[in-house]
Amino acid sequence: MSVLVTGGAGFLGSHVAGELAASGLETAVVDDLSTGSRDRIPAGVPLIEADVRDARAISEAIGLVRPRAVVHLAARRFPPGEVPASAAVDVNIAGALVVARAAFEAGVGHFVFASSAAVYGELTAKAATEDFDTDPRTANGVSKLAVEGFLRIARDEQNVAVSILRFANLYGPGSSSAGGSAVHEFVERSALGEPHRIDGGGGQTRDFVFVADAARAVAAVLDARADGVFNVGTGDETSIDSLSRMVWEAAGGAPQPPVHRAGRAGDLRRSCLDGARLHAATGFRPSTALAGGLAVTFESRRAITFQA
Ligand SMILES: NC(=O)c1ccc[n+]([C@@H]2O[C@H](COP(=O)([O-])OP(=O)(O)OC[C@H]3O[C@@H](n4cnc5c(N)ncnc54)[C@H](O)[C@@H]3O)[C@@H](O)[C@H]2O)c1
Repeated sequence: MSVLVTGGAGFLGSHVAGELAASGLETAVVDDLSTGSRDRIPAGVPLIEADVRDARAISEAIGLVRPRAVVHLAARRFPPGEVPASAAVDVNIAGALVVARAAFEAGVGHFVFASSAAVYGELTAKAATEDFDTDPRTANGVSKLAVEGFLRIARDEQNVAVSILRFANLYGPGSSSAGGSAVHEFVERSALGEPHRIDGGGGQTRDFVFVADAARAVAAVLDARADGVFNVGTGDETSIDSLSRMVWEAAGGAPQPPVHRAGRAGDLRRSCLDGARLHAATGFRPSTALAGGLAVTFESRRAITFQA
């Protein structure tokens, strides 16, 4: 079976392409390299350089690869707290629909879409299940929910499987600063021996998923042809203050007290995802504990510094 991964030169996409190729699937990547990098794409996985908004280029790519499934990960980051630029909205909403349309028109039977925990509102339970109220507070969450809605309509009208994966906060080797990831920022600052900067009080919580686990989740829904909406989370909540301490532990350095800054617009107080539905459908569960994942992330950061 062959799979086309959009955004495969990015953080999650490169891990997904590696996981799929390693499991013996013929894998190809579409990416415009706007933030991704050619060097991240695993050896032997071909890159088709194209913009997901370009319907003709995407149809040609699908015609060339003839995938059984398309995994759509390509997206731009929205700056927090601003009305987003139309180009970013265009990539994240229209681009997703261009890829989905091209896939369905070509008879691709399975479409996987990277949604996000950002579709949920403030948490009132231990962890959000997929039935929890959606109430996005960020442009990213709004755009993900819009695409989810369009895909649900398409799925109901056509004989295709659509897996919507709502990922919690991903971390691990190869992340970039562009997404404002707390783990990425903390690892970078610890490596420089500088205090962590925390937006808001530090008591806000997130659910951190190791990127290799997230890639296995994609492989699992492809394998099971799991149709529906699925959280990809650990069910464990970690405060940003605790995360900061854990990163210092992984760094092996003397922890420095964090510097607190004003909270960011749209930041939820708590975010945590219940992954039971995905486990029931595919048998997948994240297997990397946060401390271990942070140690691997820190080691890979050190290895990059060493090579440079
Ligand atoms: N990283 C997280 O914590 C997280 C959490 C939830 C959901 N997600 C979702 O997972 C997906 C991947 O996230 P990531 O962290 O790997 O992001 P990333 O920025 O590292 O990767 C995105 C990739 O998409 C490519 N791209 C951007 N615009 C494009 C366009 N117009 N045409 C073709 N390619 C384009 C970029 O070059 C990049 O390689 C995104 O949809 C993101 O919203 C990520």
